[in-house]
Amino acid sequence: MKKEIINFPHWLQGKFIILVGLMGAGKTKLGRIVSSTLDLPFIDTDSEIEKAAGYTIQEIFDEYGEKYFREGEGRVINRILSEKPAVVATGGGSYMNAEIRNEMNKNGIVIWLRADLDLLVKRTQNRTGRPLLNTGDTKTILSQLIEERYPVYAGAELIVDVKDEPAAKTANRIIELLINHKPKEI
Ligand code: S3P
Repeated sequence: MKKEIINFPHWLQGKFIILVGLMGAGKTKLGRIVSSTLDLPFIDTDSEIEKAAGYTIQEIFDEYGEKYFREGEGRVINRILSEKPAVVATGGGSYMNAEIRNEMNKNGIVIWLRADLDLLVKRTQNRTGRPLLNTGDTKTILSQLIEERYPVYAGAELIVDVKDEPAAKTANRIIELLINHKPKEI
């Protein structure tokens, strides 16, 4: 069957579609669906970091610490944003860095995938590979991160509420929002 590709608005051409949000919000899964629907490449920043480093995110945190990870994350995201437009799923902490945030806002349309605590806990609880969640109780850590990060994520140009629903449904809401959006600069 032929895949249906949506014609996306003119203002979006040449721009990145950048997904931000906490761990468990579904950035990677939703990003893949959105990219395939819009016929754009898909890039996951964590995977790019792992490729560049030759280590997993967990190994980078364990061997070199978070500061080192954040430096590498910044370099990789800057490199991605200098290349061909794509749908980009970011690591949850990257938008907290003011310089990276500016670059993302400048080069793309940033979409915050907003999810509530219970959903994030449900989706991350039994998964490994997220060093920030390995240091204590998942619910307590995520609730602290919500407090710190949600006021900053709120600066995203678009916000989509992620619910406990099939990913395809959430992806459709993202695409609808993009199609109906009037960008700030127009
Ligand atoms: C992090 C989120 C992770 C990964 C790293 C740090 C964060 O990515 O970049 O473990 O600070 O929120 P996901 O949001 O894709 O899980």
